[in-house]
Amino acid sequence: MKTILGIDVGASGIKGALVDVETGELVSERIKIPTPQPSTTQAVAGAINDLVELSNYDGDLIGCGFPSIIKNGVALSAANIDQSWIGTDVEKLLAVATGKEVVAVNDADAAGLSEMRFGKGKGVKGSVMLITIGSGLGSALFTDGHLVRNTELGHLHLRSGEVAEHYVSNTSRKKFEMSWEEFGKRFNEYLRHIERLFTPDLVILGGGVSNDFEQFSPFLDVRIPVTTAMMFNHAGIIGAALYAHESK
Ligand code: BGC
Repeated sequence: MKTILGIDVGASGIKGALVDVETGELVSERIKIPTPQPSTTQAVAGAINDLVELSNYDGDLIGCGFPSIIKNGVALSAANIDQSWIGTDVEKLLAVATGKEVVAVNDADAAGLSEMRFGKGKGVKGSVMLITIGSGLGSALFTDGHLVRNTELGHLHLRSGEVAEHYVSNTSRKKFEMSWEEFGKRFNEYLRHIERLFTPDLVILGGGVSNDFEQFSPFLDVRIPVTTAMMFNHAGIIGAALYAHESK
């Protein structure tokens, strides 16, 4: 069995577990610790090291999903995390903090990867898009199973001029005290835009709000098939481990 520690860094929590990368299953308890506030590079690196110690992981490779554009291990954006991450080599910083090799990947790309390998996207040809609805709005795009990294479709500008993430994420749902109907209508506007641009063969919804799909799905009216992720909260952890495994 090949086991890798997968970590998912979110705006409010850092989650991790050991993942069997051949089956996509968690083989340890999931550990969750609060994301330090402010979520500066040093504070988060310290928290990740705490998580690694708590996990008793004795391997030497870690996969880490991170909520920003990740290019060659470096974070290039910071929408829902402290600005100090911009320009930071996430892989190097976390390797120094944990004493292990770290592969960093955008969190939505990681979640998408686990759905493609072991979830609803498995075997689906053409283009599959995973949209994570959490504090931010994340995206992952696959064509015939291949990941097109860092798509950042949560930052699309809608016709109203609004950035999608400010209009339909979980943060905006809470901020504007939206009913599910209001949320569903807004999300439908977003999906229609995605449909017009990409006509995906399948859209998979992940992130916390996807658990409430039944509440807002009656307000969706698009031609593209929309479903919810199979791995729910674990997709980011599993995908981060898979990504690290596959990039070696
Ligand atoms: C970030 C993305 C991330 C998404 C979900 C967005 O604000 O720009 O990189 O994937 O939030 O965490």
